[in-house]
Amino acid sequence: MPAHTIAVFNAKGGVGKTSTSYNLAVGLQRFHNLRVLLVDIDPQGHAGVALGVNIADLQHRIDEVLQEKASIKDTIVKTESGVDVVPSNILLAEAEIPISGLHGREVLLRRAISSVINEYDVILTDCPPNVGILSVNALMAAKQVLVPVDMSYLGLLGIPVIERILGLIQNRLEHPIEILGVLATRYDSRLNIAKDVLDSLEKHFGDRLFETVIPETVKIREAPSFQASIFDHAPGSSGAMAYQQLTEEVMKRVR
Ligand SMILES: Nc1ncnc2c1ncn2[C@@H]1O[C@H](COP(=O)(O)OP(=O)(O)O)[C@@H](O)[C@H]1O
Ligand SMILES: [Mg+2]
Repeated sequence: MPAHTIAVFNAKGGVGKTSTSYNLAVGLQRFHNLRVLLVDIDPQGHAGVALGVNIADLQHRIDEVLQEKASIKDTIVKTESGVDVVPSNILLAEAEIPISGLHGREVLLRRAISSVINEYDVILTDCPPNVGILSVNALMAAKQVLVPVDMSYLGLLGIPVIERILGLIQNRLEHPIEILGVLATRYDSRLNIAKDVLDSLEKHFGDRLFETVIPETVKIREAPSFQASIFDHAPGSSGAMAYQQLTEEVMKRVR
């Protein structure tokens, strides 16, 4: 069976896309024994960094893959976490303009992934915090999208933006992407705004909102600096338990 393809997307930055994609990737590998590929299509490259990849010195890069100058197989890095990564770095940002001029520019990643889709059970893509051609590629290469939303007023304001983009992908680009789930992230129970935003998300998304809520914790924040997932950096912590619970919910919803 080909891999389940999931894009982790929100047009807003700082909502926990990268934290969620790399921790979810490790969790799905570890607790569900799946073969997981994490594709980083954000030029910041933080998903690779968080798993210990030296992104400054990549032999072959995702920007070359998108431009058909390299094979995706040559870019895959096996990490100690057990997850395979296609890392990125800032050179991907430089490639954005030439990529935008290519024929079939929206489906470059989908085409690249097709050559490894039978070698993995799950392929997760960490998106940049914008709606440019790189995010479009991630969404066009995914059957489902996971949307992390942080517990802020601006986070809530971003919801119509996300819905509009998904509508464009479905209607204009004719790709029937589905919402795997909306994930409440960075939840601080001491803050009224956090409760208010969570309430609004429940009302708006109903059962498309994951029951799992990711707490705001120091351990989740510092884990990337140890090049470790939350499961290795702080096993048993509230953050580790939340991300493990998320893997269970994701397993029930993947198609
Ligand atoms: N649950 C959390 N608790 C504490 N800090 C978090 C949490 N999630 C993310 N962060 C921190 O917030 C910042 C933005 O998170 P990140 O995952 O990079 O978001 P995005 O990829 O959406 O921009 C990072 O410094 C990250 O470590
Ligand atoms: Mg990110």
